[in-house]
Amino acid sequence: MISTSINCRDTIRNALQQCRTGTLQLFEGMDDATFRRQAHPEFSPVGWHLGHIAYTEALWLLQRSAGLPPAFPEYHQLFAADGLPKAKRVQLPNLPEVRHYLDAVREKVLTYLETAPLEKQERLWRFMIQHESQHCETIAFVLQLAAASAGRELQKSPNPRIPAKILHPPSQMIQIPAGEFEQGNDSADAMDNEKPLHRRYLETYWIDRYPVTCRQYWQFMAADGYYNPEFWSNAGWQWLQANPVTQPLYWLDDPSYDNHPVCGVSWYEAEAYAKFAGKRLPTEAEWEKAAGWDGETISRRTYPWGETEPNASRCNHQLVKDTTQEDAPIQNRTMPVDAYPAGVSAYGCYDMLGNVWEWTATWFDGYEGFKLYPYAGYSQAYFDGEHRVLKGGSWATRPWAMRCSFRNWYYPGVRQILAGFRCASSVNLPT
Ligand code: AVJ
Ligand code: FE
Repeated sequence: MISTSINCRDTIRNALQQCRTGTLQLFEGMDDATFRRQAHPEFSPVGWHLGHIAYTEALWLLQRSAGLPPAFPEYHQLFAADGLPKAKRVQLPNLPEVRHYLDAVREKVLTYLETAPLEKQERLWRFMIQHESQHCETIAFVLQLAAASAGRELQKSPNPRIPAKILHPPSQMIQIPAGEFEQGNDSADAMDNEKPLHRRYLETYWIDRYPVTCRQYWQFMAADGYYNPEFWSNAGWQWLQANPVTQPLYWLDDPSYDNHPVCGVSWYEAEAYAKFAGKRLPTEAEWEKAAGWDGETISRRTYPWGETEPNASRCNHQLVKDTTQEDAPIQNRTMPVDAYPAGVSAYGCYDMLGNVWEWTATWFDGYEGFKLYPYAGYSQAYFDGEHRVLKGGSWATRPWAMRCSFRNWYYPGVRQILAGFRCASSVNLPT
């Protein structure tokens, strides 16, 4: 028993430190304007996210758990999630000041970790690591947005010369036989919205082996998809009139991206493409079964490939930069959808984790028996019938927030979040 708990403490300490190293790498060499720029009215400046990470850690670990007095009370209103409207969050301390806040809080947190009662608190500590991970992802796409709106070149690494295995068209679909599977997650890692683990029956369905590629999506564009109301739902067409776009955000007219997943589409664009292709979006349950269920052993996997934690050979996600290797850049981009055969699911789906988030047909809501944790503002505040569930994670997702049961959610009109999709069908379509 004792060795288990020491182990858990070490695991948490390592994860906190690993996660923080990656967080700080995002800010290396950043100028003050970038730190405090509001790139889009819907998103706070990246510097705000950094301070909010420290604030949340101080509130939950130092104040609420260790019983310490509030740290840096002058920052509370600024960095609390419900403190100030986003437009007011540009009046920030500078990067060294926020770093000081972050470091001072973290030093106390690590001291507290030495004696904290982890048998009661493991879930909270694991929440904190994932909270930081999620804000890191937001920082990554706000940086991309800021670079684009400042008219600078988007972060682009040289395109990998991965041999093109012709995927396009036709797309391949996998038949998932009718039956029960287990949805959600009951582990200490699970967020409140993943619990409780429950059984669910699904009829037979078919799901794309790969996310929809740029090449496939280009066919929709070439067929005047953005101009033909036939492919759009009423809500989608309305959205398109209000947001007259003609291609995905950051679309690159570059054939070397043919086999990359389309990225930067709203839920409405995903829905329209699916209709164009004679398919539909998968429900969250359909996506999760295809990603994490093993029909042979009748058991659930944490990751599509099993229980090994995400690594660079399984999926395209946000790694901590290896500073011992000079040309090992953080990979700020998508990869071909078939680049990770080691990441394939039991049913044979590629790329279920990493690369791009995938929109699903499901409205975000709590499962039956939902209990909020640790605060209503994490999930429950969004059970409003206005957010769609996304699954899988993107190239900017940190490993602690990646698993088949993980749930993300956004308004269907949002395009800045590194989202693509794959399609499903209730009937077997000719290829
Ligand atoms: C789950 C990514 C939508 O960033 O708004 C961070 C995660 N919640 N702090 C968000 C979150 C509270 C959330 N998303
Ligand atoms: Fe937060």
